[in-house]
Amino acid sequence: MNINVIGTGYVGLVSGAGLADFGNHVVCSDINKDKINLLKNGKIPFYEPGLTEFVKRNVEAGRLSFSNEVGESIKDADVIFIAVWTPMSDNGEANLSAIENVAETIGRNLNEYKVVCTKSTVPVGTGEKIRKVIEKNKNSKINFDVISNPEFLREGSSVKDFLIPNRVIIGVESEKAKEIMKNVYRPLFINETPIVFTDVKTAETIKYASNAFLAVKISYINEIANLCDATGADVHVVSKAMGLDNRIGSKFLHPGPGYGGSCFPKDTNALVKLGKNKGVDLTIVKAAIKTNSKQREKVYNKLKKLFNNNVKGKTIAILGLAFKSNTDDVRQSSAIYFIEKLLDEGASLKAFDPAANENMKKLFLKVNYCDSLEEAVTDADGIVVLTEWHEIRGMDLEKVSKLVKTKILLDAKNLLNPHELKRLGFTFKNVGRPNVR
Ligand code: UGA
Repeated sequence: MNINVIGTGYVGLVSGAGLADFGNHVVCSDINKDKINLLKNGKIPFYEPGLTEFVKRNVEAGRLSFSNEVGESIKDADVIFIAVWTPMSDNGEANLSAIENVAETIGRNLNEYKVVCTKSTVPVGTGEKIRKVIEKNKNSKINFDVISNPEFLREGSSVKDFLIPNRVIIGVESEKAKEIMKNVYRPLFINETPIVFTDVKTAETIKYASNAFLAVKISYINEIANLCDATGADVHVVSKAMGLDNRIGSKFLHPGPGYGGSCFPKDTNALVKLGKNKGVDLTIVKAAIKTNSKQREKVYNKLKKLFNNNVKGKTIAILGLAFKSNTDDVRQSSAIYFIEKLLDEGASLKAFDPAANENMKKLFLKVNYCDSLEEAVTDADGIVVLTEWHEIRGMDLEKVSKLVKTKILLDAKNLLNPHELKRLGFTFKNVGRPNVR
């Protein structure tokens, strides 16, 4: 099939390369000329493991190309994927202006029947809005279908998530479009990946319901971790044992400083707002949002306690800036909260992240960004661990204990062995593991 993916963010680019890998001919288009020029030169505008080689392989096979001519790419395509961003507005709602612009462009360039497919995370009912905008802007009686195919890609492992998905959701209301989508995802049909065909509104709901559920799960385990802190139980064992129950599942039960990133905070708020607009009170999702914002504060206060509530004049090493490992993305990262608070309270900061130093530099200049973990911890009065990079998890604690000025450490992600920390003489805290001290 000839496919046009509009939007070359991580969703658009990974999906474009993935669809090309499935044997389709894909043009990824974007109005941002700088991005397209980078891509044409074989460069990826952000860090995503394996993506450079994945894109290269498909470009070299002649199945993947890039273009600034969005209108022309639309004309040549059988299926158009919309993968532009839907950021959070001030009132919590998803901002759909980029989607509306794209729908208008599609309408103006509709030269024959096409399937228009939404990949971006959009509120229930957006498919219908897109249909109306295209209808208004198209200048002939040409037919089209608007369908929904939400993405479930995790940053840091999106290439694998695209090629080996748990499931594919396709909201489609015409047989013709359904057959076309079966062709688009042919290799996944052949290997019997679960593919759920449903209507557009249900597909849109599945995406929000899934992300919000995972956010609820994280907030739940964070509350249990706080309870463990108060009772002396070990959340690590609680979470492991809970996960052994197939009905619960072991994933997304890792406590920490709260979830971040460009999806969970935005999508939970958008879902609550959608519910409110429809007269449905989503109390559980609202509670998860509240717990999440309190969690950062709680974990930050643990750090302060380690310094007798006074961090003024202290040099603190922050290990991990990205909102999670294997990405350079710092959007809604707990490190932002920690940096803001610590600078405000008069601490000096050194920081190390294997990929996200540059992005954090754009937000905070008053931090000494280091090229290595060792450099960051040298002469520090304390360490805070915020991201689960392997390099941080596997740090040589013996060596670190000799480099720091004072052996004080907050492990906000429960990555380090508490017994080893104790043996090396660290004064430390983690999240919900009090009895191992
Ligand atoms: C999330 C979903 O996992 C994807 O399925 C979805 O496609 C994507 O949003 C999206 O809507 O585009 P992502 O934001 O990349 O993916 O990252 P996750 O791995 O889900 O992590 C989100 C946050 O939750 C991170 O801050 C992570 O540290 C935190 N988290 C995750 C926990 O605190 N505990 C856990 O057990 C798991």
